Formats: sequence, C-alpha cells, structure tokens
Amino acid sequence: MTTAPIDATSTSAWAALAAHSGALVPDLRGWFAADPDRAARLTRSVGDLHVDLSKNLVTDETLALLVQLAQEVGLAGRIEAMLSGERINVTENRSVLHTALRRPAGAQPPLVVDGQDVDADVQAELAKVLAFADEVRAGRWRGVTGKPVATVVNIGIGGSDLGPVMAYEALAPYVQVGLQVRFVSNIDPTDVARTVADLDPETTLFIVASKTFGTLETLVNARLARAWLWSALAEAGAIADTDDARADAVAHHFVAVSTALDKVAAFGIDPANAFGFWDWVGGRYSVDSAIGTSLAIAIGPDAFRDFLAGFHAVDAHLRTAPFEQNVPVLMGLLNVWYVNFLGAHTHAVLPYAQLLHRFPAYLQQLTMESNGKSVRWDGSPVTTETGEVFWGEPGTNGQHAFYQLIHQGTRLVPADFIAVATPAYPLKDTGGDGTESTDVHELFLANFLAQTAALAFGKTADEVRAEGTREDLVPARVFAGNRPTTSIMAPALTPSVLGQLIALYEHITFVQGIVWGIDSFDQWGVELGKKLALEVAPALAGDPAALAAQDASTRALVEYYRAHR
Ligand code: F6P
Repeated sequence: MTTAPIDATSTSAWAALAAHSGALVPDLRGWFAADPDRAARLTRSVGDLHVDLSKNLVTDETLALLVQLAQEVGLAGRIEAMLSGERINVTENRSVLHTALRRPAGAQPPLVVDGQDVDADVQAELAKVLAFADEVRAGRWRGVTGKPVATVVNIGIGGSDLGPVMAYEALAPYVQVGLQVRFVSNIDPTDVARTVADLDPETTLFIVASKTFGTLETLVNARLARAWLWSALAEAGAIADTDDARADAVAHHFVAVSTALDKVAAFGIDPANAFGFWDWVGGRYSVDSAIGTSLAIAIGPDAFRDFLAGFHAVDAHLRTAPFEQNVPVLMGLLNVWYVNFLGAHTHAVLPYAQLLHRFPAYLQQLTMESNGKSVRWDGSPVTTETGEVFWGEPGTNGQHAFYQLIHQGTRLVPADFIAVATPAYPLKDTGGDGTESTDVHELFLANFLAQTAALAFGKTADEVRAEGTREDLVPARVFAGNRPTTSIMAPALTPSVLGQLIALYEHITFVQGIVWGIDSFDQWGVELGKKLALEVAPALAGDPAALAAQDASTRALVEYYRAHR
C-alpha cells in the first residue's frame, strides 16, 4: 500500500522555519566576524567531496530546524524505501533502484526485490557491457569491411543522451586515444547530418540508446543514421546492393541499449548486440546503466568501475550518515529553505572546471523533470512551491555573462560552485615578456574564490567611498552581499569524483521531492507535447483536416511555414 505523503507545511518544523525566516536578518559578514568557527563548523564531506555550506543564509538554528523538517516528513523511511526497492514511483508502480546499478559485486546483504536477485542481474549486464567495451577498444569488434571502430555515435535523447555526453566531456582526459564518441539527440535533421558528415562509415559504430525504444526522435535519428550508413558504404563500394548486405552492415555497425529488446529486434538490431536495463531505472538516472555503454567504451572498464564506485560512496553516505552530517540531505534541505522560505525561483550550478561544461544541462533534466510537479504522489495538489529552475555555465564564462544579476539583481539566486584542486591540463602562462610564470588553474580558482566571497560579503557604501568613488556613483557600485553559495571542491575530476557529484545531485533532488511529497521519478508532463506533435505533423505536410483541427495560432504558424518553406 502506498504511504501517503506527509504534508511538510503541517509539521511543527515548517511553522518554526516560517517564523524563523521572518525574523532572520541575513548577515554573512557579521556571522563570519562573530564566529571564527563558522566555516569549519559548516563544512562537510562525502567521499572525496569537500562541501563548504558556510556561505549559505543559515544559522545553526536554521539547520537544526531543517533537519527536524526532514525527520517530520519521514525522510529516513523514504530513503530506506528507495534503496530497498519499494515501489516509490507510485504513478508508474515501479521501484526506483538506480542505486542498485552501482552496488559493488558481492554487496551484502544481497538486494532481492519481488524475488528477483537484482544484484545478480546488474552484475551480469555490467559484465556484458564492459566486455563489449573491451572488444571495441581492443579493435576486436570490426565493421563490415573488417576495420576497427574509430568513432562511436550515441543516438539517444533526454536521459539516454545528457548523462553520457556530460560524462564523456567531463572525463575527456580518460578517453582512449584514437577513439571518439559523438552524440546525436535532436530530431532537427541538422544534428544527425552534421554529426556523420565527416565520418568514415567503415569505422563508425552506432549505439541506439533508448529505454523505451519508442522515442520518436531517437528512432527517426537511428533510421537516418542507418540510411547514411547504407548509402555511404555502398558509395565506397563496401557493400552490395542487397538486403542481406544491408542487414550485415547493421549487424556490424549498430548496437542498442534498451529495456525493450523486442523493439530492438524489430528495428533490425540483433538482440545479441543489445544491452538491457530495467524499468526501475529512470531515464535521467541511467548514465550508470547500460545507457553508459558509449562512456564505457571511451574510458574503459576500469575507469567505468571507478565511476560506479564514486556513486556508491555517496549512496552509502546517504543511507548511513546522520542528517546533520549528510551532504545530500543538507543540500536538499537548503534548497527547500531557499525555495519555500526565502522565495528563490532558480538555482545556479557553476562549475569552475571546463570539463564539467555540460553538467548544468545534465542537471536540468535530473532536477526539473524530477521535481517540476504540481501534485503529490497520492494525486493531491502540492501544498507549497516545488521545483526551482536549475541553470548554469562554467565559470569564468558565466562571470562575463549573467553574474551581474546574481550580484546586484533583485532576485535571490542560490548557487553551487564546483571546483577541483588538480587540473587535467596544468598549463602555465609565461606572461607577455616571458619572464612571469602564472599557474593558469590557480588564476581560475582565484576567480572561484573571489566570486563566492564577493557574493557573500559584498561591498558597503563606505568601502566604495573609500576608493574615492564620486558620491553619485556610489549606489551603483555597492554590493549588498548575502548572496548564498555552496562551494564543492574535490582533489581532481576523476571518474569516481564525477560519479560522486552525480549521485550527490540525484539525492539532493530526491530529498527535495520527499519534503514536497511528490513522485520525483515520473515525467507525465512531457507526454502531451509528444502526442500533439504527432497530430500536427500531418498539418505541416499539407493535410487540410489536420490543419483544420488546430487552434488559430497553430494554424497560422503552419501556414507561415508552408508559405516560406
Ligand atoms: O520525454 C522524456 C523522456 O521520457 C525522458 O524521461 C527520457 O530520458 C527521454 O524521454 C528518453 O527516453 P527513452 O530513453 O525511452 O528514449
């Protein structure tokens, strides 16, 4: 039976937080000045991640009340329910077991759900993916003309794209020399056309990644890729103009990842060349399943196992660390604090690591597809605001674009800054005359530290005046400060650290969802648009009945298209 959500707004912690937020006058300058221990006291760690929460707009009392809130909404029980395979994805009647994907082999006690040995299933499929990755990396997997693979093209969208592409970019220094992975996701034909334009069909392997194997974008792109493969191979004289030759080409150049192996076969891909996963892995939580096959090929089995181990370290921490020390719990609760008590609408994620440049885009699906909900898991309306908008760009690019608003705008934008101590490319700048030698990564980190300090402590009018600023210009140069940030640092961007970061945000998202009483694992909100796209497509193609069925605005836009194409 489904456990009804506890209405967070009816808890005593909520009432206390409401009163507390009304009385709290944020004063990071004053708080730090009066409390030399604040930074140390409000810093936590999980795995290799050093997480400084001290520049948030909280006092010890705020954190205590937030922890009380977590207790009152039964967070501990919900964590256990998720990790043990209860069907907490209520609207789809599914377990939520992405954490099972990264349990180490032989973990005790074994995870058995509905009589099924989940650990055994996961290990068997992982072994299959990693063995395949080895085949490709070693050049034993050959194309139809006998050549080894040089380029892997992952065709997928949403969770079947964003995780793999983000992780591939983040772990670029670990990618085997001579191998590259490209990603096709958008149904805009430009995407597939540009991705394959300069590829050699004889050395290209396509991975069609789709949990459902029913996603329009992915199936259309897979067909376009297949058509390109056939014609490019035929042009090169590499295959004959026969159905058998074309089928043979698909067998050598296409593999699939899906939970729907029957549909894979219908597409023409031999199920022997398909890697499976399970309905209890949500798309946006699937980079550590077979959906990560392209990544496993790129970085290799050992690094992929390190990646999984990083996730697991954070899962274990979620399960065992007391809430006061539990980083995903505290960060999730802080987000609730900002959204529900301080009125934040958005949350910036600002990686000071160029390799994480796709991390904000990845987090957009993870957080917003999970927590952009207006009803709770029992179908009743939510009782408070839910999912904030996540966004971001890598520093320092963001500094020269939107930081102005974060520093001096009227909106509160909590931000997570992420940096690593050791860069992948430790370059030195010798300066204009060749005499200086600056560690460029240190310069980069100086920006990270400067920004978080400026956001927290600002600059007073007196400080501006002391610089000799004309009085009429003083207001424009004042920084109010008290702009909250969390600083996350790690030794280096290793596969394990990346796994830790992803798991951290998965669990932050989960914690917020539990406080709000929502099912963070369904995504019904994307269905309507998919259905309407199929209905409007014939109108674009000129079907008068389909056109007549559209609203006036859509009709006019279709007519514009038809007049201008
Ligand atoms: O439309 C949203 C969505 O269902 C995502 O949740 C999912 O990651 C994406 O589509 C792709 O789905 P699939 O892997 O089944 O192709």
